[in-house]
Amino acid sequence: MKILVLGGDGFCGWPTALHLKNAGHDVTIVDNLDRREGKSQTKSLTNIASPAARTRQSAIGYLIADVTRKYEMNHILDEHSPDVVVHFAEQRSAPWSMLSSSSMLHTVQNNVMGTIAVLDAIRIKSPNTHLIHLGTMGVYGYNTTDDPIPEGYVESTIGGTHDPDTKITKGGTRLNIVYPPDPGSIYHMTKVMDHQMFQFYTKNWNLRITDLHQGIVWGTQTEDTKEHPELINRFDYDGEFGTVLNRFLVQAVTGGPLTVYGTGGQTRAFIHIQDTVHCVKAAVDSGDFELNRRPRIFNQVTETHNIKTLAEMISNRTGVKVDYQDNPRREKAENDLNVSTTLAEVGNFTPIRLMDNLGLLSEVQDVVRANIDNFDPMVVKSNASWHK
Ligand SMILES: NC(=O)c1ccc[n+]([C@@H]2O[C@H](COP(=O)([O-])OP(=O)(O)OC[C@H]3O[C@@H](n4cnc5c(N)ncnc54)[C@H](O)[C@@H]3O)[C@@H](O)[C@H]2O)c1
Repeated sequence: MKILVLGGDGFCGWPTALHLKNAGHDVTIVDNLDRREGKSQTKSLTNIASPAARTRQSAIGYLIADVTRKYEMNHILDEHSPDVVVHFAEQRSAPWSMLSSSSMLHTVQNNVMGTIAVLDAIRIKSPNTHLIHLGTMGVYGYNTTDDPIPEGYVESTIGGTHDPDTKITKGGTRLNIVYPPDPGSIYHMTKVMDHQMFQFYTKNWNLRITDLHQGIVWGTQTEDTKEHPELINRFDYDGEFGTVLNRFLVQAVTGGPLTVYGTGGQTRAFIHIQDTVHCVKAAVDSGDFELNRRPRIFNQVTETHNIKTLAEMISNRTGVKVDYQDNPRREKAENDLNVSTTLAEVGNFTPIRLMDNLGLLSEVQDVVRANIDNFDPMVVKSNASWHK
């Protein structure tokens, strides 16, 4: 298949592009290199190769373009007529989106304008293209529920009489609706807005769209990025772009402490980068689903973990202390998280569970040690606050 990977220069996009290429697809990356040299640039701990060197090693083409530019997107879609577009090209840090008024507005403009420009280019130039978008589990909010959060849609009843003991509702109007969103940051809010656009574009033009609500990604290398030093993946560890488990692993190598916000009672969904890649391939391979004027939705997660338990587990393994800090975020101090997920079944692969693969923690730490000269202790602390 012909596949465009938007945001394919980034942490999730690069290993996904490689994996799809190695699976025999014709892959082209579209990226504006914002993380290397633009508004949201931060230095990767690993020495990532230039786009030219990555192309030399992988035979994956790079188009340096901004997905928010409508005419550029129309031209690219017209020229390539891709079977699949995988859309990773968004400002992806929740804390960065809460740093300042300008980072808030940039996040909304970049993510919302990018998604609508991609959608509209598909509508006009290539309406049979399957769009696969990376959303986030954070669209659902982090509320404790008795039943697992479904993959997107939920049966609900308006009105009627509900018996809380039997959980039976009599009467009322039955509706199948999108699970109510409850975004916790400007970044998460843009993912909710993206999804609303997918609902409209499928309802009106019956486009083929899959929205993947992904958990927090950990790890750094995949089978494909390990093949050659110039294929190495980027690794973010700074306070804004470093995701929680990866940041703990860097703090453990560099003497700590492991910084936990609040009580650490928050439970979050996680996925290893190798499974991100497997899940996106599963979404590509199963793209021939029946169209029903609604986007298809999957929860792209493997497991959930409590932050305090994770920090203590790493502390016990490494002897590095845990430091509980005031929580800069406005969120529930504690929550449980129960999530439905079927992508591993769809893709027929065995997902990587953290506790069965503790060696992968050491693998990340080896990558950190090998690149320790790039470590800057000044960037580890987050400057974002939800309370200002
Ligand atoms: N990393 C995670 O833990 C995680 C978790 C859930 C969801 N996601 C989602 O997955 C996607 C990829 O995340 P990532 O971790 O790889 O982020 P990343 O920042 O490493 O990669 C994003 C890439 O998109 C590019 N980009 C951004 N705006 C663009 C634009 N307007 N035009 C062209 N290119 C643009 C950037 O230059 C970068 O290369 C994001 O949409 C993110 O929301 C990531």
